Order: sequence, then C-alpha cells, then structure tokens
Amino acid sequence: MKFFVDTADFNEIRDLADTGLLDGVTTNPSLVAKAGRDFKELIGEICALVPGPVSAEVASTDFDGMVAEGERLAQIADNVVIKLPLTLAGLKACKHFTDKGIKTNVTLCFSANQALLAAKVGATYVSPFIGRLDDINLDGMELIENIRAIYDNYAFSTEILAASIRTPNHVTQAALAGADVATMPPAVIRKLAEHPLTTSGLENFVKDWKSTGQSIL
Ligand code: E4P
Repeated sequence: MKFFVDTADFNEIRDLADTGLLDGVTTNPSLVAKAGRDFKELIGEICALVPGPVSAEVASTDFDGMVAEGERLAQIADNVVIKLPLTLAGLKACKHFTDKGIKTNVTLCFSANQALLAAKVGATYVSPFIGRLDDINLDGMELIENIRAIYDNYAFSTEILAASIRTPNHVTQAALAGADVATMPPAVIRKLAEHPLTTSGLENFVKDWKSTGQSIL
C-alpha cells in the first residue's frame, strides 16, 4: 500500500518526507485555505520536495474552467496530479486529461457507481471518502471493498485512493480491503508507528542496557 499525506502544510510534508514513508501528497481547497499560502507556489515547492504524485485540485466546476485550470496546474511539475470532482463535468475533464497523458485524481467519490465512472474515463486515482461516509452513519469501508471487487472484475487500472481517513484503524481496514493507496493526515501517519508495548519495551531495554555499563561503539 502506498502512503500519501493529506495536507498542504509544507513543514509537515518535509518532516514526513524525511522518514522515507511518503509516496505522495494530496491537497484540497480547504487544506490550501488553511495553509494560507499562494497555491501554485506551494504546489511547486511540494513537487520539488516529494518525487511522488502530488494532487492539486481545480477550483472551477464547469468543464472549460476545469480544463484551463488543470492545464495550468500540470505545467507546474511533472509529478502534479490533477484533482477533479466526481461530477459529469469533472469526468469529462478527466477524460480530456487522460487522453493527454496527464494523471488525474477523481475526488469526492461516495458510491461504487461513481467509482465505476471514474475508471471508465481512465482516472489514475479515485478517492472514496471513508470518514465522511462514516460521519453520516454509512459504511466507508464497505465502499472500498465494493470498488475493489468491481475494479478487479474488469481489470480496471484506476488506483483506489482511500481518502478522508481519520484513524489508524481506517488504514488497517483499507489495507485489508485492498485499497492501493491511503491518504492520511500527518497525525494518523505518525500514530501508525505507535504501540504502548513498543514504548514500555524500549524503556526497559534502554534501562537494562545502561546497567551493563557497556558501549557498542
Ligand atoms: C482527499 O483527497 C481529501 O483531501 C481528504 O482525504 C478529505 O478528508 P476529510 O474528509 O477529513 O476532510
């Protein structure tokens, strides 16, 4: 499973990139608004830092606007992925970019049928939003499972990018369901490494080692 970080906070991305765990980055307009930075400049900096795919979302909702903005964003760097909403206009724009060999991430996916459409227009990634479905008492993980089954039935190459991940357990369940990628807030990525038995076990090892009075170097 590939790990993307879901943030527009450059410092967070730099810290996580240093761990070697990061395969890519996703942003959205809300995250960019929170970062308070010039969008195109920020995407350029992230693309220079992370060699993997960096999703940058269009702001327009009409086909012509999405194409114009997506083409501008694609000029920023080779690893920019154009993020488009899962609407008919967004799917048409996705087909436009697919035909030009530009990578796409079709976002705001909440149903298996929507994911089927994203695959049919050749999206590079589809982003089902797990957490937002769970928020309204639906089952986000069931959606991942259904998309996996449908994509496998037809050998679609669109990658399932599990999004709106809120907890480490979401990551485990998405991995078990066969999601290709998980995009997570920085705090969730950090929590994946944590276990209380690791913490207490390490404390004991450090204490016992000190009692030997030895040095390995
Ligand atoms: C994914 O591409 C989105 O940016 C993100 O995962 C949305 O997460 P949220 O539902 O926590 O805002």
